[in-house]
Amino acid sequence: HPPVSQMEETSLLRRATCRSQGGASGFKVAILGAAGGIGQPLALLMKMNPLVSVLHLYDVVNAPGVTADISHMNTGAVVRGFLGQPQLEDALAGMDLVVIPAGVPRKPGMTRDDLFNINAGIVKTLCEGIVKCCPKAVVNLISNPVNSTVPIAAEVFKKAGTYDSKRLLGVTMLDVVRANTFVAEVLGIDPRDVNVPVVGGHAGVTILPLLSQVNPPCSFTPEEISYLTDRIQNGGTEVVEAKAGAGSATLSMAYAAAKFADACLRGLRGDAGVVECSFVASQVTELPFFASKVRLGRCGVEEVLPLGPLNEFERARLEKAKKELAVSIQKGVSFIRK
Ligand code: NAD
Ligand code: LMR
Repeated sequence: HPPVSQMEETSLLRRATCRSQGGASGFKVAILGAAGGIGQPLALLMKMNPLVSVLHLYDVVNAPGVTADISHMNTGAVVRGFLGQPQLEDALAGMDLVVIPAGVPRKPGMTRDDLFNINAGIVKTLCEGIVKCCPKAVVNLISNPVNSTVPIAAEVFKKAGTYDSKRLLGVTMLDVVRANTFVAEVLGIDPRDVNVPVVGGHAGVTILPLLSQVNPPCSFTPEEISYLTDRIQNGGTEVVEAKAGAGSATLSMAYAAAKFADACLRGLRGDAGVVECSFVASQVTELPFFASKVRLGRCGVEEVLPLGPLNEFERARLEKAKKELAVSIQKGVSFIRK
C-alpha cells in the first residue's frame, strides 16, 4: 500500500478529475432545517446531484446524525453537519445556494397562515445569518406561509443593505409538480411530458394553475377545469389530512425542492433556457411579489416572464388570488418594519 498521505493526495486528484469531467467544479449548497421531514430526503437528493461539491446540513436538532448517515453515500459532494445557532455562521459561510425548509408544518384544520407566528421568527433569524455570511447566495425559501416568508426575507435583506431581488426565490415548484401529475391523470398521458404553469402564490386560492397554457396544448371540459383547479389548490391540504396530524408533504416536497434547486444551479452554471415557476419580486401585476415563470441564470432570476393570455375563468381567479396575496405580503413586510 502507498503511504496514507500519498493515498489521500491520489484520492483528491481523482475526485477533482471526476468533477471536471462532469463539466463543473461544483457548487456549495446549505440546507437549513436539514433534519426535518423535508430536510432529510432533500439532503439525500442534493447529495446525489453532480452539480453539488459541498453540502452543509444545518438544524437545531439531529444534524450530526443525518450528516453521518448521508455522508456514507458514495457520491461526489462533501457533507458537513452543523447543530444549533452557534454553528449557523459556519454552516452559511461561502455558500452559493441556501435552501430553507426550516419551520413547523400544518396539522389538519390549520391554514398555512396559522404557521406565521412561529415560522416568521425562524426565517428572520436564518436570513440574518445569510446577510452576515453569504449575502450573495441564491436563496430558495420553502418555509410556510411562503406568501409572507419571502417578503420577510426581502425586508431582512433590505434592512441590511444586501437585498438583491434576483437572488430570493419562494419555492412553488410543488404546485407545478402536482399540477403536472393531476393533469396527466386526466389526459391519460405520462406526467413527465406535461408542463402546467402555476402562478400567483402558495396558499389556497392564490395557487392559480393556468390550464389554458398547458404544454402539450390540450383542452378541458368546464367540469375538468373545476376539478383540476380545486385539486391543485388543495393538494397540500389533501396530504395534511391523509397524514392526520403527522405533518404535511415532505417526500413530494423534497423531490420538488431538489428539482428547483437543480434548476437554480444549472442557471448559475450558465445553462441557457432554464425556466421554472417561482414566487419572486415581480412587476407582472401591481403586487410587489408574485409567482410566475422565471428564467434562471448566472445571477439567479434573469427575467420574470409575463403571464401570457388568460381566459375569463383565469382572469376572475387572478383577481381573487391578488386580494389574498396583497394581505399576506403586507403581513410579512409589517413583521420586520413594525
Ligand atoms: P418538520 O417539522 O418535519 O421539519 C422542520 C425542521 O426545521 C425540523 O428539523 C426543525 O428542527 C427545524 N427547525 C426549526 N427551527 C429551526 C431553526 N431556527 N433553524 C433551523 N432549523 C430549524 O417540517 P417539514 O415537514 O420539513 O416542513 C418544513 C416547512 O416547510 C413547514 O413550514 C412547511 O409548511 C413547509 N412546506 C412548504 C412547502 C412548499 O411548497 N413551499 C411544501 C411542504 C412544506
Ligand atoms: C404543501 O403545499 O404541501 C405545503 O405548503 C404544506 C402545506 O401545509 O400544505
